Amino acid sequence: MQVAKKLTDKVSWVGKVDWELEKFHGDEYSTFKGSSYNSYLIRDQKTVLIDTVWLPYDQEFIANLKNEIDLNEIDYIIINHAEIDHSGALGELMREIPNTPIYCTNNGKKIIKGHFHQDWNFVTVKSGDVLDIGESQLVFVEAPMLHWPDTMFTYMTGENILFSNDAFGQHYATESLYNDKVDNCELMAEALKYYANILTPFSALVKRKINEVLAMELPVNMICTSHGVIWKNDPLQIVHQYLKWADDYQENQITIVYDTMWNATRAMAEAIASGIRLENPEIEVKIYNAAKTDKNDIISEIFKSRAILAGSSTINNRYLSAMGGLLEMVKGMKFKNKKAAAFGSYGWSGESVKLLTQDLSEAGFEVINDGKRILWVPDDNELKECQNFGREFAKSI
Ligand code: FEO
Repeated sequence: MQVAKKLTDKVSWVGKVDWELEKFHGDEYSTFKGSSYNSYLIRDQKTVLIDTVWLPYDQEFIANLKNEIDLNEIDYIIINHAEIDHSGALGELMREIPNTPIYCTNNGKKIIKGHFHQDWNFVTVKSGDVLDIGESQLVFVEAPMLHWPDTMFTYMTGENILFSNDAFGQHYATESLYNDKVDNCELMAEALKYYANILTPFSALVKRKINEVLAMELPVNMICTSHGVIWKNDPLQIVHQYLKWADDYQENQITIVYDTMWNATRAMAEAIASGIRLENPEIEVKIYNAAKTDKNDIISEIFKSRAILAGSSTINNRYLSAMGGLLEMVKGMKFKNKKAAAFGSYGWSGESVKLLTQDLSEAGFEVINDGKRILWVPDDNELKECQNFGREFAKSI
């Protein structure tokens, strides 16, 4: 049983904290810190429910909501984003209150219909549309591709709350609700992971939308996201952090990511790292085996990096599958302003470095050389060559 949590006299959190969640988007996103599906109940002269929870928790959500309110008192449902982690309980809810209007964007209506195949009482809204609910008004702001075509924000006047849905969220389970009540290092790491893995491809739109909202000069007391904490203490800090992340974010870091069959490519990775450090001790170098480290954590590290080195042994005239999966993700991220090169050991045909180089280029990296290949296992001289390769790479970024 999840108890409603009061945010203000008019607004309560009525969502679900999911401490057990390990994976999200199928198997695409690791959630080592769980998550939450935040839903909000507004009681003004009108009663409004903003978003619901993920489908497996639909009955629990409805039961908890009934402890808080007679469902027939709900005047309006707002679905800021139709993905199933937020619209999941709509089926159960609409069985109880089938005529209640659902406010969403036109794309939201299409997506909800595509999921539930029901012709509910949709009211489609656009940016600037206003819903009067008594003392407060709800102002809708479309935010397409942050991160789906239907996404919108809802701003509540009077309470000065921005209901931002996925934007500014994190997959982070907490019972504490607010950003200043949780471990800040954990929180910001999860917020960055969320941005890096979900929002990076849409950074240009993120920047434009945030600047548009900031230009409205709305007072913001809280940002109520749909996952993780509510930003209450200095709520705009995450907005300004998003502007930095959206601006081709970089730290002084190089990430080396590789896979290896019998450790020759690993030895190359470590020798290259030592060369980078010799050339520039200020650069942080991180090394990950793509087959052993969580792929989303690697994406977060690439997101933070000025440059990457991708390595693999050659197998069956190709490169290893863990690197294949990772580079497929990397291509989708559309990273900008990052440099790269490839490396790897081989026994006879030796295609991996050439193929990695092609794929790094296709992923939008500025590939700065043809890469480094070593036949079989590197000896001391060849490790020295790898070290020099690392030094030259460091010089070039
Ligand atoms: Fe949290 Fe795009 O759903």
